Amino acid sequence: MSKNVSIDISLCHANKISPSHGFTDKELEVLVKQIKDYHNEILQERKIKKYGFFELYKDKDTKERIKKVAADFLNHGIENLVILGIGGSALGITALNTALNGPYYNLLSRECRKGSPRLFVMDNIDPTTFKRVMELCPPEKTLYNAISKSGETAETMCQLLIILKELENSISPEKIKEHLVITTSPKGENAPKSLLHPIAEKYGTIQFEIPLNVGGRFSVFSPVGLFPASLLGFDIDALAEGCAEMDTICSNPSFENNPAYQFAGTHYILDKDKGKKISVMMPYSDRLKDIADWYCQLWAESLGKKDDIDGNEIFNGQTPVKALGVTDQHSQIQLYREGPNDKIINMVLVKNFGENLPVPKILDEIPELEYIRGQSMGDLLHAEFQGTKDALTLSQRPVVLLQMEEISEYTVAQLLYMLEVATAMAGKLYKINAFNQPGVEEGKKIARRLMLEKKQNLC
Ligand code: PA5
Repeated sequence: MSKNVSIDISLCHANKISPSHGFTDKELEVLVKQIKDYHNEILQERKIKKYGFFELYKDKDTKERIKKVAADFLNHGIENLVILGIGGSALGITALNTALNGPYYNLLSRECRKGSPRLFVMDNIDPTTFKRVMELCPPEKTLYNAISKSGETAETMCQLLIILKELENSISPEKIKEHLVITTSPKGENAPKSLLHPIAEKYGTIQFEIPLNVGGRFSVFSPVGLFPASLLGFDIDALAEGCAEMDTICSNPSFENNPAYQFAGTHYILDKDKGKKISVMMPYSDRLKDIADWYCQLWAESLGKKDDIDGNEIFNGQTPVKALGVTDQHSQIQLYREGPNDKIINMVLVKNFGENLPVPKILDEIPELEYIRGQSMGDLLHAEFQGTKDALTLSQRPVVLLQMEEISEYTVAQLLYMLEVATAMAGKLYKINAFNQPGVEEGKKIARRLMLEKKQNLC
């Protein structure tokens, strides 16, 4: 039985949901030709290592160093791992943790956590949340991992300065390196001037590098995701194996056999030709809900662009939305079925949950419960998935089916890697640069200027 993540786009075909909402064979034919050309372009660009994310899983040296450093910290008995970082520096490890450790992980005993630390990902600067985490995590029992590719993001810098003061107040300066690891770009002529370098040097902390050709939202398989993953006890070799297998699958030039190209192509064609301006990611598993969040950033920040690659204003982008099955069946599905037909719904099914919670055969006196008695909770979830999928199709709503045999390092890596390749291909189809984020950079600059002005006015 294959454990590979698979895709089924047949419910987006015109013969299932009408030519007004689904692609026709003719439209598909044109798309497949375009994708073939772009596949060759990507191959050429991969040769010159234009996109670093394709290469991350191959970096064995970094993986071995990560494992060793993580083991050393674990031997010192750290109880909490606090990530200081935002956007691409935070969403990947959150997605991995929820998927692989499951819900409420931090509430488990140390024994149930198999000695791994609790995880707090500080991806915001809400003072109440930050203060709460500071109260929960005494510095002497905590390892902080400050992550920033640019090494200058205001939110991360603000968090780090607060934590450094806290560390200075509670432990001797020479011990700070036992509680802080820095992950940022390498030093170099073409590299950004990361402010994390002088900080790491001052305290003598361990540093990990984010390759220059890997953007934040594509960095989950770099030390950004792998170092915390290793501390949490995840099998980072299995993550690499999942990426490697999906890389082989997604290197296939044939559209029919390439899930990333099917995902990208379907989204592109239905957006451009059928007005599907919204892409809903709806996993039917609590454990995958933060992957939906990660996907939203990947799809939004990569494809939401004012200009195309020739400089024409096109205001491109499909709005990604996260939803959760079955929870959002009682919240969003009414809109998805009967509201504007402007969405593609990506439904993610996990076949085997690893838990089978039987519904007891009790309350025989209530015949209306017969349909559920003696079945399992997973059976009900699968039936609800099937029911919603069929109902959406009846309403002519395009559904992309993504299927995973189980949730493991191997399959989660496959899903994330496939979506990264899909994003790269979607960038080609839309003729935009999927790897920059000028809109984000501008906001960062303005916020910094405002802070400076405020300070000058106070003086
Ligand atoms: O994907 C991206 O590039 C962004 O979301 C960044 O990850 C985010 O803005 C944080 O940037 P940095 O890692 O430079 O602190």
